[in-house]
Formats: sequence, structure tokens, C-alpha cells
Amino acid sequence: MSEFESLLKSYQARINHKLEGLLPMNDTLLSRAMRYSVLNGGKRLRPMLVYLIGELSDTESEYLDTLACSVELIHCYSLIHDDLPAMDDDDLRRGNPTTHKKFDEATAILAGDALQPLAFELITSIETSDRNKVEMIRSLAKACGHLGMVGGQIKDIHSQNIFNMESLDLMHSEKTGSLIEASIETSGILSGLSKNDIESLKSYGAKIGLAFQIQDDIIDIESPSYVSGKDQGSDITKDKTTYPSLVGLDESRMRAKELANQAKKILLPITKNTDNLIKLADYIVSRKA
Ligand code: IPE
Ligand code: IPE
Ligand code: MG
Ligand code: MG
Ligand code: MG
Repeated sequence: MSEFESLLKSYQARINHKLEGLLPMNDTLLSRAMRYSVLNGGKRLRPMLVYLIGELSDTESEYLDTLACSVELIHCYSLIHDDLPAMDDDDLRRGNPTTHKKFDEATAILAGDALQPLAFELITSIETSDRNKVEMIRSLAKACGHLGMVGGQIKDIHSQNIFNMESLDLMHSEKTGSLIEASIETSGILSGLSKNDIESLKSYGAKIGLAFQIQDDIIDIESPSYVSGKDQGSDITKDKTTYPSLVGLDESRMRAKELANQAKKILLPITKNTDNLIKLADYIVSRKA
């Protein structure tokens, strides 16, 4: 295992422990569905970004944990809804039945609905200035909404109408890139990084966010379910426009790598140790799950 993979593993263990402690424990259907949908593995990439940005300065780790949980809860909510019959209609997530398959549709919708505000509530509990809290909430709310993830998701639902790279880039950046960027921006705010550094890191985030979704489209075709934990070929079955469907697998791979390289170059002017962010960019475009 590479040094970066062991770092990822240790951050995964840390975030899993934190998530375990903050989710409701009572034996209601809603609590069980919330726990099931969050504590079921996952790469925890967005928390990883929060931690790696925090590593650039001496941010109090307890508050990084809270923020890391917050962005992961938003991500988990988005996955529950993404898998619903009215959306991608998938049966498998992180190697387990999707939430609506394990429970039922209404419970899955409501578990997602409950995870989303919990993410914002968590941010209010972080001990930092009110201004920082408002800025973090603004960043995350914007990333989730009509100009971010949800805006991208509705384009995805109608992606049969996407015929050019520019529109596909926009859809990918909104549905996936925006939360990745917000994970970076919120952590940069909490860590007290300079406006310039935060702007550079956001540009890095935009590049790796787009690369992440291109790689996700490649995984949909290439990775068997036992590797990806998801239904293989789901995009093809649903006639989605994806990078590979528009430009083919080879060009998709090249574009993902090119974006990762651009992301790494953006880090150059930052006078802090960004080695792990460089490794993360490479990991994103080489992953098989
Ligand atoms: C899958 O996200 C959905 C996309 C936004 C592409 P991840 O690949 O991060 O899924 P998990 O969290 O590791 O399961
Ligand atoms: C999901 O994109 C994006 C969000 C959840 C916001 P996909 O539909 O490609 O993700 P997977 O492949 O189901 O994980
Ligand atoms: Mg989808
Ligand atoms: Mg999907
Ligand atoms: Mg996908």
C-alpha cells in the first residue's frame, strides 16, 4: 500500500468513527435508514479534502472532523436520492442494496432529507467566528443548490439532450465538482487560509472535481460491480450522455489525466506543503472504484 493509501485509510477510520458518534442511535426506521446510508463504506473523499486543506495550517482537529462529517452527510444524502427509481434507479451502492431497496422509497427520500439539514446544523456547532460559520454555510448551500449539485443532477436526468463537451463539462462540474470545491473552500475558511490561497485551491478543486466525474463515468463502464460496489453499465442502460459516450474511453482517460495535471500546476504558487493534494489528484484519475 502506498503512503498516500495508508493516509487515506487512516482518515477514513477517523471520519467513520466521528460519523458513527453523531448519527441518531434510536431504533426508528428513519434513524436506521440514516445510519445505513452513511455508515456503509465509501471512499470519504470529501472529508479527505477537508483534512488535507486543514493540514496546510494548524486548524483545531476537532472542528475539522465536524466539517468533514458535514460534507460527507451532504454527499450521502445526494447518493440516496441519486439512486432512487425516479433518478438513476440503481440497486447497488457501496456494495450493498441502495437505501430504497433495503428500506422503501419514502424512507430513502426522508433519510436523505434528514441528512441534509443535519450537515448545516453541524457547521453551526463549530467554534469559530460567526462570519466564518456564515461563509461556510453559504459555500455549502450554494454548492448543493440549483447552481450546484441539484442543478447538475437535473441536467443529468435530461442528459440525452447534451451533445457537446462544453455542456457536459458544465453538468459534471455542477453535479460533482461543486461539492468537491465547497469541501475545499469551507475547510480553507475554517483554517484561516488567505483569500488568494483559497481561490487557487478552489481552482484546483474545480479541475479535480471534473476529473473525478469523468473517472466515475469510466468506472461505470470498466469496473465490475464487485470492484465499484455499484451497478456496472448503469449509465448505458439509462442512455446517459457521459464522457465515454461522447468522446470514447481513450479520450476520456486523456482528459481526466490532463485535468489532474492542470490541478497540480495550480498548486505551484502556494507556499505550503501541498504534496498530499498532488497525490490526491493522481489518485482520483487512477482509481477503479
Ligand atoms: C459517487 O461518489 C458519486 C459521484 C459524485 C460521482 P463517490 O465515488 O465519492 O462515492 P463513495 O462516497 O466513495 O461511495
Ligand atoms: C452522481 O453522479 C452525482 C451525485 C450524486 C450528485 P452518478 O449518478 O454518476 O453517480 P454514481 O455513478 O451513481 O455513483
Ligand atoms: Mg446520477
Ligand atoms: Mg447514479
Ligand atoms: Mg456514475
